[in-house]
Amino acid sequence: PRKIIIDTDPGQDDAIAILLALASPEEIEVLGITAVAGNVPLPLAQRNARVTCELAQRPETPVFAGCEAPLLRPLKTAEHVHGATGLDGADLPDPSMPLQEEHAVDFIIDTLRREPAGSVTLCALGPLTNLASAFARAPDVVERVAGIVLMGGAYFEVGNITPAAEFNIFVDPEAARAVFACGRPITVLPLDVTHKVLATPPRIAAITALGTSAAEAVTGWLGFFERFDTAKYGTQGAPLHDPCVIAFLLRPDLFTGREINVEIETQSDLTLGMTVADWWGVTECAPNALFIGDVDADGFFTLLTDRLRRLP
Ligand code: BDR
Ligand code: CA
Repeated sequence: PRKIIIDTDPGQDDAIAILLALASPEEIEVLGITAVAGNVPLPLAQRNARVTCELAQRPETPVFAGCEAPLLRPLKTAEHVHGATGLDGADLPDPSMPLQEEHAVDFIIDTLRREPAGSVTLCALGPLTNLASAFARAPDVVERVAGIVLMGGAYFEVGNITPAAEFNIFVDPEAARAVFACGRPITVLPLDVTHKVLATPPRIAAITALGTSAAEAVTGWLGFFERFDTAKYGTQGAPLHDPCVIAFLLRPDLFTGREINVEIETQSDLTLGMTVADWWGVTECAPNALFIGDVDADGFFTLLTDRLRRLP
């Protein structure tokens, strides 16, 4: 299996991504989960990661707390989307599994140094503060990264937190800029993809029908998302962002994209955090990312439902 670290700010969609990864041990080995402040402050983000591991009955998964604020800016959270807890919609017990003592950034650095070079993929589901901090503190680990697969940014779909920017990039644009400049292979799952992966009532019903504890929680989470996002976007269901990262690892054939240059706006108040993506190749700038543009959404939901079936 491919070794990954999941860097995350759960978030219902983050939690579903974690479940999808933990349900796929043949393809994916989760070395650890590193929490970062984003959708909710860090204490809730690390708690929610542990809640999710326990839901999957995988309490041995190491969970680490990382950065509690972006590199240079005050934290902006998204309780208006995810609810006060970040996991509103399902009533789950407080976790009893421990939080690891090591800081998430140290765990990322130590893991990249310990594991064979080129064997660890970083999966980023929130603001990129932990990754950028690790790369700044230990530049030697950058070349040891196999690749980075992240949910963030947008091109045609433009923004969701401002008219120009997607939440994960907007919250810590300086971190995003550093990560996009790191020189390792980056795959981006932007809003252009996630807004095609809609949790419609029939797709939610197929998950509910699994009848497991995990399916019940996912149903509650998707229902919570649905109330906010369908009103916002006027679609038949809410976009399911972060699980696209794990689905890409499992089934890259479900996705198509282009190797392009992507730069991050960090100066303008108006377009802060915009992913300036050269989709049409109008610059001479060398590609630095595989920017995904399309997805087989039915294939995605079939995969997600099949994998959730394996969880208790
Ligand atoms: C991203 O922001 C968060 O609200 C979601 O968890 C996802 O990672 C979507 O813009
Ligand atoms: Ca997230």
